[in-house]
Amino acid sequence: MIKLGVNIDHVATLRQARMGTAPDVIAAAKICEIAGAHQITVHLRQDRRHIQDRDVELLREVLLIRLNLEMGATDEIIGIAHRIKPDVVCLVPENRQEVTTEGGLDVASQQTRLCEVVAGFNADGIEVSMFIDPEARQIDASAATGAKYVELHTGCYANAKGAAVDEELERLFDAAAHAQGAGLTVNAGHGLTVRNLAPVAEIPGLHEVNIGHDIMARALFIGLEDAVVEILDVLEMYSI
Ligand code: PXP
Repeated sequence: MIKLGVNIDHVATLRQARMGTAPDVIAAAKICEIAGAHQITVHLRQDRRHIQDRDVELLREVLLIRLNLEMGATDEIIGIAHRIKPDVVCLVPENRQEVTTEGGLDVASQQTRLCEVVAGFNADGIEVSMFIDPEARQIDASAATGAKYVELHTGCYANAKGAAVDEELERLFDAAAHAQGAGLTVNAGHGLTVRNLAPVAEIPGLHEVNIGHDIMARALFIGLEDAVVEILDVLEMYSI
């Protein structure tokens, strides 16, 4: 079955709205774990707008499932990742003004530097994923860095309307096959919901999806545990 990483950044967004302690990010992570999620994903942004360094430290201590640290490849955050040692880091582009991660990482234009970053993480026992648009050029560049995974950006698929939905889906299927041919393990994420997930889950050999906003939005109405379970049910039904 395809694995589920739950991105809990938005729990921290709500907490930071009052700069207090509620809602408890660690409790949210443990509820996801108990509900059957395979991984907790957090994005430690340079501006610390939601997840804080202490959250990542505490998650590292208490989680029984995998911890995936999304991060921009800056020297500061790379240093923190080496200190805290998540199971996997997912390298993403980061613009201070953006509401959420916008495009995929341009691995091709910074391949030499990213080779060094990946080698450093691999030497430290930390796996690396590249969050990229579903394009052959970025997939080939990602494979050349020595990263184990690519996470295909599903935002264009999620935003597509009408005939464009199938076109975007085809891009994802083609990209996944290309990445697997290049020896990469393929994940997917961004904009996935309980309603649009099924066709993505049918991508052959897809390893994992990372979902945040929709799970947290559904959690407001049906509770966090059930919001995780309904995504797991879709994955169980449609995984090939
Ligand atoms: N994967 C990556 C690399 C992301 O940056 C994000 C957003 O933080 C997600 C998955 C989750 O996206 P969403 O919140 O739209 O489910």
